[in-house]
Amino acid sequence: MHTPTRRSFLRQTALATTALSASRVLGANDKIRIASIGLGGQGSGNAGRMAKVPGVEIAYLCDADTVALDKAKLKYPNAKTTQDMRKVMEDPTIDAVVVSTGNHWHVLASIWACQAGKDVYVEKPVSHNIWEGRKLVEAARKYNRIVQGGTQQRSDPFHDELKAYLDSGELGKIKYVRCNHYGQRASIGKRETPLAPPTHVDYNLWLGPAQDIPIMRERLQYDWHWVWNTGNGELGNWGPHILDDLRSVVFRDKIALPKRVLAGGGRLGWNDAGETPNTHFIYFDTGDIPVVMDVHNLPRKAGMKASDVYLRRRTSAFMIIECENGYYEGGRGGGSAHDASGKVVKKFKGDGGGTHAANFISAIRSRKKEDLKGEIEKIHYSSAWCHLGNISYRLGQAGDLDQAKAALKEFEPWQEMLSDEPAHLTANDITLKAGDIKVGKMLEIDAAKETFIGDSATPEALALLKREYRAGFEVPDMV
Ligand SMILES: NC(=O)c1ccc[n+]([C@@H]2O[C@H](COP(=O)([O-])OP(=O)(O)OC[C@H]3O[C@@H](n4cnc5c(N)ncnc54)[C@H](O)[C@@H]3O)[C@@H](O)[C@H]2O)c1
Repeated sequence: MHTPTRRSFLRQTALATTALSASRVLGANDKIRIASIGLGGQGSGNAGRMAKVPGVEIAYLCDADTVALDKAKLKYPNAKTTQDMRKVMEDPTIDAVVVSTGNHWHVLASIWACQAGKDVYVEKPVSHNIWEGRKLVEAARKYNRIVQGGTQQRSDPFHDELKAYLDSGELGKIKYVRCNHYGQRASIGKRETPLAPPTHVDYNLWLGPAQDIPIMRERLQYDWHWVWNTGNGELGNWGPHILDDLRSVVFRDKIALPKRVLAGGGRLGWNDAGETPNTHFIYFDTGDIPVVMDVHNLPRKAGMKASDVYLRRRTSAFMIIECENGYYEGGRGGGSAHDASGKVVKKFKGDGGGTHAANFISAIRSRKKEDLKGEIEKIHYSSAWCHLGNISYRLGQAGDLDQAKAALKEFEPWQEMLSDEPAHLTANDITLKAGDIKVGKMLEIDAAKETFIGDSATPEALALLKREYRAGFEVPDMV
């Protein structure tokens, strides 16, 4: 286990105190030199998208895994390479970092970058827990950094068109919103003995803030999503996109956090080393338009590769906005408005957020955080909604679908959503036993303080707002 040495402590302190002087003053024609930190599937894609923006150079590549690093080096042969991101932070010629590591590293890497005077593009969820997300916002403000969250749909022009359409009143008032994600995944296996991390990975650096506990799945990379130590489950994976769309399009960023959250679900049908639910249903009481959400990883049918769809409507839309005179349904890159009979009355076509990288670069040049489409505080909130849905689930008691239904008897969309579950589970050859479904607690939230209140403020709930950081990789209380 890594313990902080005097040298590493001094280095961190030095990072913090020299921050502002470390940033270069950019001229209009100066190249922006980017370090790409984390070079798995998304990190490679992000590097490519940044490199395409005029005036950008991928100048530093960083991955704890030398296989990922060597592969990226083939594409950017002139870039420097390192397994240790602290080297990147110490390099005064780097203007900005793109953080595409696992979720458990997002905040610490981004705070270090802010302290070192660098701007940041950080993947979603921008945090691994709510407390540290706020610390990143504080660091962005304190060091006057441009920090963009990686929910690229914020840059999709069709969102403005959709907002204007909803404002036109053609569909009438919004009654409630239903968010969905059906995306098929598979079991991650369950080993008898802990996985030995591959020798090409610097495991101490890979772990960073996470706890050094045995890994019982088959694969180190990517499947970190499905254990709480490093990931946030599917709600923390697709949820930040979908709930960010919701917060932007429906609530216009006026509702930071919900007032109450209730969740349930289970990791059904897979006897594996994963901990996060593959079937998850959530209710958000916003104090305004109510929201239900369900997230599924089981396929349409046992043995099939295809994902299921929202059963009642046969749609895979991420967001269905139910209005008095019809509804809108859509997802990444577009959607359609329907009248009450279901007839399409308008179509929306977007680009999926292809200009998000360019938006980041132009805000680096203007030095105006208001120019960012995914300014960090907004995406902190959207990520926090996911964390809240996970906390309610994690605090849940063993129960069944009837108990889950009874938890919110008065809300019809919740009843409808849970009525969909039996057919989906039967198609997957799953017969629920009592106790297979967790039924969460309705948690009350103080949005301004970003904490639980009243009976919800139990030590167990409050503990899940934060994590235990591994020595040497602590997110600082004072950024
Ligand atoms: N915006 C999007 O549409 C989108 C899509 C996919 C993934 N993502 C996000 O991007 C992130 C990465 O996802 P992925 O699918 O590429 O995961 P991945 O597991 O394939 O890649 C993560 C990479 O980070 C590296 N890494 C881990 N610790 C590191 C450290 N300390 N320093 C440098 N590198 C380190 C790993 O070795 C690995 O190569 C996730 O947070 C995910 O949520 C976003």
